[in-house]
Amino acid sequence: MTFVIGAACVDVLDRACIEECPIDCIFIGDRMAYVQPDECIDCGGCEPACPVEAIHYEDDLPAGQEQFIVENRRFFDEPLPGRTRPLGQPGGAAAIGPLGSDTRFVREYQP
Ligand code: F3S
Repeated sequence: MTFVIGAACVDVLDRACIEECPIDCIFIGDRMAYVQPDECIDCGGCEPACPVEAIHYEDDLPAGQEQFIVENRRFFDEPLPGRTRPLGQPGGAAAIGPLGSDTRFVREYQP
């Protein structure tokens, strides 16, 4: 189980959550941010920081947003466009910076 960023982040990308993550496991894509599900320690610090309430515990994601659980994992487990290797568990987002890519689902997502 982990915290997941959902639909409300798409095209908002406020980034306030990043300051609250003690292990730097929130990564910036193009349209939204993604929690590294294997690095997240479930502290919940990010959840109240988001002004659009995009972050939820996995089990509490609003109905209809279940696909974002898949996409938050897919962002790390599959190569992003233009890359040959998956991001995996880089052990910190700050050093990597914005990735400028999203999963196909997020790239094509219509709010
Ligand atoms: Fe997105 Fe909210 Fe973070 S809009 S980048 S989840 S503060």
